[in-house]
Amino acid sequence: MDIGDMLERMRDPLGAPFYPPALQVLLVVTWVFHIFFVTLALGSSAFSILGFLRPNEYRLRLARVAARLTPNAVGLGIVTGIAPLLFVQTIYDPIWYASNTLSGFWSVSFIFVVMGGYSLAYLFYLKGSADGRLLWSAVASFILLFFAGWVMHVLASVSIRPERWMEWYAPGGVIDTRGVVFHSWNIPRLAFLLPLQAGLSLAVVLTLFAWYFRRIEEDAPFMTWVADRGRWLGLAVSPLYALAGLLWAATEGAEFGVGMPVGIALAAVGLALTGYFFFLKQPMQHAPRTLLVWIIALVVVGIVREGIRAVSLARFGYSVSNYPYMMDWGSILVFGVTTVVGVAVVTYLALVLYQSGGTKRDAQVSPRVERLGSIATGMLGAWFAFFILVGLYTTFFLK
Ligand code: HEM
Repeated sequence: MDIGDMLERMRDPLGAPFYPPALQVLLVVTWVFHIFFVTLALGSSAFSILGFLRPNEYRLRLARVAARLTPNAVGLGIVTGIAPLLFVQTIYDPIWYASNTLSGFWSVSFIFVVMGGYSLAYLFYLKGSADGRLLWSAVASFILLFFAGWVMHVLASVSIRPERWMEWYAPGGVIDTRGVVFHSWNIPRLAFLLPLQAGLSLAVVLTLFAWYFRRIEEDAPFMTWVADRGRWLGLAVSPLYALAGLLWAATEGAEFGVGMPVGIALAAVGLALTGYFFFLKQPMQHAPRTLLVWIIALVVVGIVREGIRAVSLARFGYSVSNYPYMMDWGSILVFGVTTVVGVAVVTYLALVLYQSGGTKRDAQVSPRVERLGSIATGMLGAWFAFFILVGLYTTFFLK
């Protein structure tokens, strides 16, 4: 049996529940949200530590905000990580489960690493961020979160190299079931995806923070300072981002024969961001546009990651487009309705936040948004009730 046969036989015999290329698109889109929030968590965590280590009035104030942001961003990163996890398990199950098995110790430890990173970030925010006590907890949280990203990266790297699995599974012919070895990683890819993107996500969110509170007059000098920090951070990190992209292309890209397109795409993203931050003369006013630019950049990165995986697996005849599938209307319906309900609730929350407008006045939420809120929460309640009924029905009536 060759590697192509092996991959084919490891696919789910029932097939995917929906048209696989559509799931592939959703994988990229949801990963973009995931990576935005986890890198924001790393960026805000690093900033809060530095702010407390080298304080001045503004830095300290922003460091406290950053300390509060970190656990929130980790929470959002975890939630938005579930979605790509479901899609990757559905269309890339052979490679995902193989890499999780080969790195078994770390894929299980990962959960505790993330729990530790989150809890320590929360501890620092609650108990330390007022006066800078317990800074060790912020540092430990940063290390754990970074380590979690490294584990994710190793899982991704191992998964796209099936030709080496046997050698990793049984080095020298002796089976190693410990799963403790980090079999594969790529430093430029990791640097590109984690620390550099952490800097950029933080840069974007600093400008957004200033934009959100732009109407509070007494805070105007602080907010201008914050937005400028965001711009300078973006400007400093973007060229390094282009450079790391080129190194990623020259190493992993070249390994799979796609060094040129990967290099062009990633260097273009880095240089475009450099130009964008250079010409961004009013970072506070243009923060929503900056967020959009960053999301587009992350989509390009998501497509590049997906492209590398596709060319690697194409060597063995594995392709998402020929993954068997059978429309499973029940799960499609559940997925569709959950998405509609979830988007409605999140839109309502976002609109309330937006309309409260960062002002200290008692801002009013418009009646239309209130109505959306009633509808969205009503739908959520009805959906919960439906789930409970389905659960009761299957428990008591389906044998
Ligand atoms: C909180 C710390 C986390 C960090 C810093 C982090 C970071 C990353 C990074 C850097 C990647 C890309 C790896 C690469 O392409 O080389 C990645 C991928 C991924 N992450 Fe996370 N992650 C975290 C937590 C999570 C959690 C809790 C989940 C699941 C619930 C998750 C699900 C995923 C999935 C499924 C992918 C891969 C998708 C694919 O291969 O296309 N992550 N993450």
